[in-house]
Amino acid sequence: MKKLYFGSNLKMYKTIDQTSQYLEKLMDLTRDFSSEDVELFIIPSFTALDAASKILKDSNISLGAQNMHWMDEGQFTGEISPVMLKEIDIKIIEIGHSERRHVFNEKDDDLNKKVLAAVQNDFTALLCIGETEDEKEAGIADETLRIQLKKGLKGIETHQLSKIMVAYEPVWAIGVSGKPASSEYANEKHAVIHQTLFELFGENQIPILYGGSVNAQNAESLICQRYIDGLFVGRAVWEADSFYAILKQVYPLWKAKKEEYLHA
Ligand code: PGA
Repeated sequence: MKKLYFGSNLKMYKTIDQTSQYLEKLMDLTRDFSSEDVELFIIPSFTALDAASKILKDSNISLGAQNMHWMDEGQFTGEISPVMLKEIDIKIIEIGHSERRHVFNEKDDDLNKKVLAAVQNDFTALLCIGETEDEKEAGIADETLRIQLKKGLKGIETHQLSKIMVAYEPVWAIGVSGKPASSEYANEKHAVIHQTLFELFGENQIPILYGGSVNAQNAESLICQRYIDGLFVGRAVWEADSFYAILKQVYPLWKAKKEEYLHA
């Protein structure tokens, strides 16, 4: 709970131009937030990364990539390697977003290779996990999360833990046809994730972010939950003003929560 984590994946939206305008405005609006306190991040499309890294150079907003191959180079048409991403000033590699898992059929074993490659290349791996509606209905959501974590983080050593973030994004909650998880349900699953990370590593300082239809109506009650360290927001923050508005809503609540647990 050291920091509030707040960021967005822009998916396959925004051109280079649109991303640049969005980031210029965002930088301006969020200037007063210190990176000691808040980890702000944006994950644009690959084509916008270079321009984005120049814009964000001296800002408190970190930049991420939406995917990465685990090999440095090779016969992998259409893929982007860690070496290529290192040429740009990128901090975060998003791995295993629900759309990568379910639209592009990415599996835990390959996602694990990406996590290891990200960490070895000194990026922060943002591993996304979440159960499908069917898994929830079958009562195996917790098992699904545990498997995705254990497989995804296999081989990670304790000295590398500061390079890992986890986003819990229930598949049924994501996107235009998603329904947001209640804050109680989300907190319950975050507790399962926290416990699993504790079992894996004997400690847990890994930030766990909630994502899936976060908006101005539900952000406050989500961030007040004990095990939710941050929010990974999509559509609701793709305008700089709305990003700033939700950040301003949740920041004081997160601060109060931090105080409460520090003194508990
Ligand atoms: P959403 O996207 O907030 O638009 O549901 C979340 C995500 O896919 O990370």
